[in-house]
Formats: sequence, structure tokens, C-alpha cells
Amino acid sequence: MLVLVNLKTYPCDPVAVATAAREVNETTPARIAVAPQTAHIERVAETGVETWAQHVDPIEYGSNTGHTLAETAAEAGAVGTLLNHSERRLRLADIDGALEAARRVDLETIVCANNPAQIGAAAALGPDAVAVEPPELIGTGTPVSQADPDIVEDAVDAATAADEGVSVLCGAGISTGEDAVAARELGSEGVLLASGVAKADDPKAALESLVDPL
Ligand code: G3P
Repeated sequence: MLVLVNLKTYPCDPVAVATAAREVNETTPARIAVAPQTAHIERVAETGVETWAQHVDPIEYGSNTGHTLAETAAEAGAVGTLLNHSERRLRLADIDGALEAARRVDLETIVCANNPAQIGAAAALGPDAVAVEPPELIGTGTPVSQADPDIVEDAVDAATAADEGVSVLCGAGISTGEDAVAARELGSEGVLLASGVAKADDPKAALESLVDPL
């Protein structure tokens, strides 16, 4: 079960959260990874935690300004990237291009989407995984597995219909071990979460209690 902690642009200490995540990762069969801001990838990767980019652009080396090049993210230590997060939406052609960019440097990919129909479209592009995140539940503390369990099961069906090899994760409002177990029971192979860890007074304790029942 992948537990991917997206730090967004929260005002947390990325190295402290990453260090906590690496320590907790050593105590659990779950796979814990952290997705910091681009400028923090190198420092986070140096902690030894599995490090993901929050986004890479559908570009190559060249005349691009203000973009994130997949090669640079990988050189900084990222081993995977989120794409099309609800807070960083892309057009379909750009998701496809960003997947191509990620593949050039062997970044693992998770394409996010709002609902099962979008999950089907995203899965058809051939990412390693897709993640369903209803935007209205993000940051609420109400888990998708509780508020809208059908969306997770329908996302699994839609992804499998498009590509049997693609993994399905879910996210939004997940903060407890109970939430993670419920997600797994609905067919999710991992969870994306942010505020439950990045905004916690004690991120290590928050992660420990999240992975404890897994
Ligand atoms: O990428 C995960 C994120 O969108 C979920 O946010 O704060 O509801 O865990 P949160």
C-alpha cells in the first residue's frame, strides 16, 4: 500500500516531514513517499525518503521558462511524479506529453482525476497508476472512502476496463489508519494525503497512526 504525502505549498518543514516519513517507513510494510515542492526535491531526497515531484511539464530541454523539466526533477532525486492534480490541472494532450517526459527518465507516474470517467481516460494514457480525488473533499478531513465510497469502486472498474495493469489510488480527506484501511477495502492500492500530515503538530505521530493498521 503506497502512502504518498503531498506537501503542496503548506508552510511545513519539508526535511522534517521527510525525515519522519523515512523513519516511519522503516517500521511498516506500507510504502511511504513524500512529494515536496520542486525547489525542495533535492533536500527531501537527501533524507533517504522516497521522493516524488508534484508535477512535471510536457517539455524537453530548451526554451521553456517557469517549467519543471522531468530530467531536472529526476536529477534532484525524484523517482516519481504526480500529474494532473486537482490543484494543477492539465489538458489531456498535456497529460500525455508529461507522461512521455516522465518515461524518458523512468519517473513512476500517478495521474490524478476527479471522477471515474476521468479515471478511465487517464488510465488509457498508460500511467503506472491513477488516483481519484473528489476536489470538494480535499482538505476537509472527511475521507472519500466514507463520503463517497462508490467513487473509489467505480474508479477501480473504470481504470481496469481501460488498462488492467494500472493501479488505482484514492485521496481527499484521508488522515487516519481507519481511512487508509477503508480505502484498501474499496480496491485502492494506495492513498494520497496532504493536510493530515503536513498540517499536523506532530507529522511523525500522524503517519505512525495512519500506517499502524495497514
Ligand atoms: O494530493 C492529496 C491531496 O489533494 C489530498 O489532500 O488535505 O485532503 O489530504 P488532503
